[in-house]
Amino acid sequence: MNAPVQALNGIPLLVARQSNNAWSSRLTFILAAAGSAVGLGNVWKFPYIVGEHGGGAFVLVYLACIALIGLPILMAEILIGRRGGGSPIHGFRSLAVREGHSPNWQLIGWMGVGCAFLILSFYSVVAGWSLSYLAYAIDGRFGGANLAAGEDTAQVMGELFASLLASPETLIVCHSLVMAATMLIVTNGIRSGLERAARWMVPGIFVLLMALVIYAATSSGQFGNALAFLFRPDFSALTWEAVLVALGHAFFTLSVGMTAMMAYGAHLQKRVSIPKAALAIAGLDTLVALLAGLAIFPLVFANGLEPGAGPGLIFVTLPIAFAQMPGGGIIASLFFLFLGLAALTSTISILEPVVQYFEQRRGRSRHSTTLIIGFAIWLLGIGAALAFNVWSHITILDKNLFDFLDFATSSVLLPLGGLLIAVYTGRVLSRSALSDELGCGKSTLFRLWHFVLRYITPLGVGLVVFYNLV
Ligand code: TRP
Repeated sequence: MNAPVQALNGIPLLVARQSNNAWSSRLTFILAAAGSAVGLGNVWKFPYIVGEHGGGAFVLVYLACIALIGLPILMAEILIGRRGGGSPIHGFRSLAVREGHSPNWQLIGWMGVGCAFLILSFYSVVAGWSLSYLAYAIDGRFGGANLAAGEDTAQVMGELFASLLASPETLIVCHSLVMAATMLIVTNGIRSGLERAARWMVPGIFVLLMALVIYAATSSGQFGNALAFLFRPDFSALTWEAVLVALGHAFFTLSVGMTAMMAYGAHLQKRVSIPKAALAIAGLDTLVALLAGLAIFPLVFANGLEPGAGPGLIFVTLPIAFAQMPGGGIIASLFFLFLGLAALTSTISILEPVVQYFEQRRGRSRHSTTLIIGFAIWLLGIGAALAFNVWSHITILDKNLFDFLDFATSSVLLPLGGLLIAVYTGRVLSRSALSDELGCGKSTLFRLWHFVLRYITPLGVGLVVFYNLV
């Protein structure tokens, strides 16, 4: 289909610009949306929050949140995006006005803009960690030749991560590089090199994780324990806080709750089935997260590490494996390269909708808009980087700035945004508009989805967020 060039200009994906038949296939859309969804959330955040919250029961709650809350909202976001068109804020407004609802529904889009600032600032710092680790890997630090096996390696890797966090300069330089790369791509549109990178980034991460899982399964002697830790629920270990973290992460990992997925839906062909596409995106995303868990926990147990070690978990655990396996240096380089790329396809999807909106609204050039917004986010990100060292004493709600940004977005703003999206879709938009857009008539699937959005999602999200805030 020949989409007008103008309409393609703001598409936040790595594949769209190259030709006017972008989005012509469902696969292109799924790759792009999966590029946004699959990122640090799957490989870095999922294992460490599973470790912090005791394993199996948390994983079960998380999977339930993905299926019952995340997936229905993902479908809703793509649907609103396709029906509304344009940037998420414009899309919400034009859809609401066209359907005879209050234009104030665009406030959800505004919340999304605010949320994007906060998420990108700390996300970029973590993406910077993988950049540092890519440099370490290329430098041969995980080569294994000058490392003793076992505990010593664990200690060396623990110290390496601690020394990274203790260095404000390194953190800021890496964070700046990530922001610069993100801004460069967003401001220039997308180069063919990166377009191609995006095409094999998700498969690449997948294959490497698979190899790591096999390595961990065969060499650690702890695969059974890891399986039990991940999939044998112990509900006595589950807290309300853990349920909130699981819920928030379901939003974070699927990139929903801040209207980023609307921007993708805005350019999706009418003939593509939204439920099928959403299912593929959520399925891929969940698979990558579970693979990351299966790769990491055998190594955690085999090396006597603490599953609840926090944000450094993968950066300490995986290098131990790299140091001990043959060809570890090359595998480590590839792994952190892929992780960096996976992060980049996500950072772009966070910045792009914001830039798109201000560009359209203020009539400023794309370059200056990107520069101003990127600079503001970069500045906030410096605060997140310093939270690990010189500003570690500064706390908000008992959390350092980094943890606070994570909490404010994952545990408050994303669930709240998701709740409002569910309410608008389930209770305000007419059923006929929904079934027309979803293209599945008034089938059982449709009725189930509608029921979930009307009752389960608002109740579940409302309860969990309310319980934790009060
Ligand atoms: N989903 C990505 C991850 O798991 C992060 C991300 C990209 C995101 N775009 C988003 C999170 C929009 C929330 C909203 O790493």
